[in-house]
Amino acid sequence: MCGIVGYIGAREAYPIIINGLRRLEYRGYDSAGIVLNYPGSNELIKTKGKVADLEEKSKGKQLNANIGIGHTRWATHGEPNDVNSHPHLSNDGRIMLVHNGIIENYEPLKIQLKEYGFTFESETDSEVLANLIQYFKSKENLSLTEAVRYALNEVVGAYAIAVMDNESSDEIVVARLGSPLAIGLGEDEFFIASDASPFVEFTKDAIYLEDGEMATITRGEEVIVRKIEGNEIVSPAIQELQIGLEQIEKGGYEHFMLKEINEQPKSILDTMRGRLLPEEGLIRMAGIWDHKEKFYNAKRIIIVACGTSWHAGLVGEYLIEEFARIPVEVEYASEFRYRNPIINKDDVVIAISQSGETADTLAALKLAKDKGAFIYGICNVVGSSIARLTDAGSFTHAGPEIGVASTKAFTAQLTVLTLIALKLGNHNGNLTTERYRSLCYELMNIPQLVEKALESNDIIKEIAAKYKDSENALYLGRGYNFPTALEGALKLKEISYIHAEGYPAAEMKHGPIALIDENMPVIVIAPKKGHYDKVVSNIQEIKSRKGKIIAVVTEGDVQVRDLADYVIEIPDCSEEFSPILATIPLQLLSYHIAVMRGANVDQPRNLAKSVTVE
Ligand code: M6R
Repeated sequence: MCGIVGYIGAREAYPIIINGLRRLEYRGYDSAGIVLNYPGSNELIKTKGKVADLEEKSKGKQLNANIGIGHTRWATHGEPNDVNSHPHLSNDGRIMLVHNGIIENYEPLKIQLKEYGFTFESETDSEVLANLIQYFKSKENLSLTEAVRYALNEVVGAYAIAVMDNESSDEIVVARLGSPLAIGLGEDEFFIASDASPFVEFTKDAIYLEDGEMATITRGEEVIVRKIEGNEIVSPAIQELQIGLEQIEKGGYEHFMLKEINEQPKSILDTMRGRLLPEEGLIRMAGIWDHKEKFYNAKRIIIVACGTSWHAGLVGEYLIEEFARIPVEVEYASEFRYRNPIINKDDVVIAISQSGETADTLAALKLAKDKGAFIYGICNVVGSSIARLTDAGSFTHAGPEIGVASTKAFTAQLTVLTLIALKLGNHNGNLTTERYRSLCYELMNIPQLVEKALESNDIIKEIAAKYKDSENALYLGRGYNFPTALEGALKLKEISYIHAEGYPAAEMKHGPIALIDENMPVIVIAPKKGHYDKVVSNIQEIKSRKGKIIAVVTEGDVQVRDLADYVIEIPDCSEEFSPILATIPLQLLSYHIAVMRGANVDQPRNLAKSVTVE
């Protein structure tokens, strides 16, 4: 949940680390810190707040070391303040540590260390680890690598760490269990980061540590990777990075979120590229094809996910049941993992996750795997923990998503789920060839229709100006667009802090209708296909209670236009594809409202991009 950056080489470490922290700030922005390692001493600067505050605090200091580590924090243990910020130092001031994750047994370890005479400044679990490393280092006279290894063998929890010792300004030791860590390999220099974005402009070669591995990174030497348990040396795979600098920059947009919303025609096309081949009458998906028997013999498919990815899963349920007639259940990963679910060997469990690091989704998958289910991943981040754990999977090719609010990853997930449902339906005979082909052709055209849906930006801005001061909002949809309503409400609340709820439109009269008055904006997703007439009746019910209606309609619609205060048009398409189009105006509406309210759109309060703690 936090971001870690490190550098060792011939350049000045400070600018590289600060720049890297800025790129990782999506992972947490409660506090930031850096420590530079000079022979025999160190310079530690840390502060509550953002990387910009850290830069402010660093002004005027002589910061020319060429080895250092930095951290941007999403607080778990201890409130966000200067003292709880990372890096943490051991009592003797020699060990410097940054940590992403949670040390679950930190309390007994802390009690034990106190008995040995250690004292603690912060409330964090991470300071305990720094002192534990010092303890082993001095008691057993160990090298830094060995001391870190001994300490980690005492630890229960999840971590990615980077550690330095000011006895040596030529070495950084890193380790991972459950939280990601990448090492960039330059010429005579090394970069460390939670993902590769801090070093893409310096090198394309990276080692992604596996769970349970640690590495010793020494100036001018080869990186040595070993198992934390057992100490066995392993030879790491060097991966070539696929991302470029332009993908992680704002490219002229005011916010990453707006850039990512506008990238959707391309990201959907990229997700279909090489997979959807309507001319040849096929969908090519190796992950599905190689394991088709698992899918065809599955008595049911269980989809596990959190947040926006869970909403995509709900649409997936409609799609797979409609096209392939395989029963689907969609579960919150956080509930699934703790409720002793019945999982059979012939179940297929699909995990959906943008980051591929969400702790609850990961735990749900491990549970399903232990019970013998076949597990399939739909992830956006290549090399992520979920992607590596699954038996097979399909990547969404949305590109890096930096804005904390998920936008292009959601529509890419919908695209992959549509492809899977169509492929399964075609091969198990539930879709006629004619319908299958016609749907494939239509899907091919969706990126262009998304482009058109984006053209409503101006009217959406006008609507945003009108309703920006609302305290509540309701989102209603039916069928395929019930999940769209949930997603619209989540987007609004997470970035604008307006209380919003999504409901199946027909459920409104079972309670939420009591909330409707002349101040309540109700956003109704009412495309022409599907349950249009029923939704029109729901709109009438809102209107007769004086609610304000903002309707997302199919272009040319006149019936809803007459009833609604505002309409936003989306292009006509089959009902099954309408969530992809209907979600676009809802993303834009949240975005503009949040901007007008002066909220930090890309880094909403209390949130982080990947939730690697439960
Ligand atoms: O990386 P994941 O898709 O597993 O993340 C799941 C949720 O944390 C995520 O979708 C969250 O709800 C977003 N902030 C929504 O915009």
